[in-house]
Amino acid sequence: MATNSDNVTFGFIGLGNMGSMMAQNLATHAHSKGLPKVQIWNRTRTKVESLAVTSYCEPAGSITELAQKCDIIHTCLANDEVALSICREVFQARRKEGLILADHSTLYPTTSSRLHQEAARAGVSFMSCPVFGPPAAAKSAGLLIVLSGAEHGRDKLKSYIVPTLGKAVIDCGEDASKGALLKILGNNCILGTIELLSESFTLAEKTGFDTKLFYDFIQQWFPAAAWINYGKKIRDGTFSGKTGFTLPGGMKDAAYIRRLGAESATPTPIIDQAWNHLTTAKAIGGESLDWSACAAGMRVTAGLKPFKGEDFTLQPGQANGINSPRAEQ
Ligand SMILES: NC(=O)c1ccc[n+]([C@@H]2O[C@H](COP(=O)([O-])OP(=O)(O)OC[C@H]3O[C@@H](n4cnc5c(N)ncnc54)[C@H](OP(=O)(O)O)[C@@H]3O)[C@@H](O)[C@H]2O)c1
Repeated sequence: MATNSDNVTFGFIGLGNMGSMMAQNLATHAHSKGLPKVQIWNRTRTKVESLAVTSYCEPAGSITELAQKCDIIHTCLANDEVALSICREVFQARRKEGLILADHSTLYPTTSSRLHQEAARAGVSFMSCPVFGPPAAAKSAGLLIVLSGAEHGRDKLKSYIVPTLGKAVIDCGEDASKGALLKILGNNCILGTIELLSESFTLAEKTGFDTKLFYDFIQQWFPAAAWINYGKKIRDGTFSGKTGFTLPGGMKDAAYIRRLGAESATPTPIIDQAWNHLTTAKAIGGESLDWSACAAGMRVTAGLKPFKGEDFTLQPGQANGINSPRAEQ
């Protein structure tokens, strides 16, 4: 094990589909550099305990305790409300000088700006670092990482996030809102791709074309990760959200795109259609589906059964998300 004079203590908050993978990679990095164990915290404690067993991580008793021990904290949280609440708890904790908080959640740009300002008042550097790539890419450190915030923080993060967490960084400069904005613009492309794939595969099926052959065409002609990965899920109807991006997350991001369009007087017709198909998918199959289930919503509009392969249809009495209790706390 190498040793590191810079003796940085890392923390990770938010061990969901993405965060659990990123925290493991951060832990491997910390171990290889002879740094202290990565401090971890998550709302659902079972995830903290199991990660501490399998990787170089130490459970923190609270967010405050974690904030007091760490020099750089990474967060990956569900939405703006959760990120605001957790980051504020970090800012309020009595902590080490020069704390950097690198947030990988997809947030609305004004939320990132607000967190940046509140952090600065508390003596913390808030860095907006949203990521592109599914959990499988987070696991293999294949993410594309967007970076924005103060220069010293960007330099510090750039010294290890590639190859530790991702394969490349896009530096959006000082303004913390710009990283969040690029993530939303990118998601416009990704959800637009899912919508177009949903339409194309539905058209192929309705016209009697072999969808496996159609997928061969996609692989040959559109060799990009979003086309290949979501094309496969839509071809096969494999819509489990356990290892992907759940409908609530996807609909949150679709709502950001539509809000950005509304605030800048820019129509977003493709995402409006995708929103309708996501809503239909949620009504039929519930919140635990992957957002590629957009295709299930599209299929219904064309008179097809929503699901092929595994049947995700909610049974009577099963919750679809409205006031539904959380399955696991
Ligand atoms: N999945 C993807 O493909 C993907 C790709 C790029 C970016 N993203 C972005 O990355 C972020 C995380 O996505 P994900 O797929 O990892 O989501 P996820 O699996 O649903 O994880 C969400 C995380 O937020 C925590 N959380 C939710 N509500 C909370 C609350 N009220 N208080 C405290 N913690 C709370 C969850 O804790 P629990 O474990 O207790 O639920 C979990 O740690 C999102 O902002 C998403 O937009 C996702």
